[in-house]
Amino acid sequence: MKVVRTATEVRAWRARSGRVGFVPTMGALHAGHAALIERAVAECDVAAVSIFVNPTQFGPHDDFRSYPRNEFADLALCERLGAAMVFVPSEDEMYPAGDATRIQPGALALLLEGAARPGHFVGVCTVVAKLFAIVRPEAAYFGQKDFQQLRVVQTMTRDLRFGIRVVGCPTVREPEGLAMSSRNAYLEAEDRRNALALSRALFAAGDLWSGGERDPAVLRDRVKKVVSQPDVALEYVSVADPYTLEELRGPAGQVVISVAARVGKARLIDNVLLGLDVDGVGPG
Ligand code: PAJ
Repeated sequence: MKVVRTATEVRAWRARSGRVGFVPTMGALHAGHAALIERAVAECDVAAVSIFVNPTQFGPHDDFRSYPRNEFADLALCERLGAAMVFVPSEDEMYPAGDATRIQPGALALLLEGAARPGHFVGVCTVVAKLFAIVRPEAAYFGQKDFQQLRVVQTMTRDLRFGIRVVGCPTVREPEGLAMSSRNAYLEAEDRRNALALSRALFAAGDLWSGGERDPAVLRDRVKKVVSQPDVALEYVSVADPYTLEELRGPAGQVVISVAARVGKARLIDNVLLGLDVDGVGPG
């Protein structure tokens, strides 16, 4: 496995590689990331991973400084999973002196996480566009865990004519239901128990859906009810169209339910798709 730190080295490696499957990450890798890397290894000639804690997607009060970093363990995991190349750029490499260009996504990026974290998706789109331009993969793998990010990146990739297949992969969870996240490292034991309210609420809505319930207001209320408990500070519950992410006002055959809440020191997000699989979600 090659570990490279400059765009020039990536391009030299790229010229000798076949169809590249790419997994961009911010490191502190866990089983959710591993599932994306395994899929890239299985579906492409070679798999490339990037590890870069991207400053432009963090707000001034976000956790950029405290975000967990563990390059040594991350590289060992990538090697074990069969990645061929890991790109670990410095901040200067991604944002050289005088860097001024930003990618401004459209309406999709203003809802939900975009409303809660102004500018977040400008940072995500800018770094992903740079990484795509450097790695030039055939396919790129993103997690359903960050469903809005998946949709924003799919839309950007289509709009900018990158010609890269952006593949959605299911959320990997702890056995109790908590969605895996690098930010779970911020949770104390009691926070972890409280954090289960998010997945429990989403699964409760899934049960209603399986029983035939299609009224978005009923689904929304159930999620709110189950998630609302002391020590879980709910930010939003959304029952939306999976393509536009606009709130549903009437019954629909395909739904994404998303939640965001603060638990202990962590801000957590989670979602479920009802009536569709993430693998089938395309640029739309
Ligand atoms: P990061 O949070 O490290 O996530 C990297 C990728 O792993 C994303 O596509 C994310 O959706 C996926 N992922 C995280 N947890 C997952 C889980 N439990 N199951 C499945 N997939 C999971 O997302 C980012 O980094 C950044 O915004 C990035 C795209 C790298 C741009 O900086």
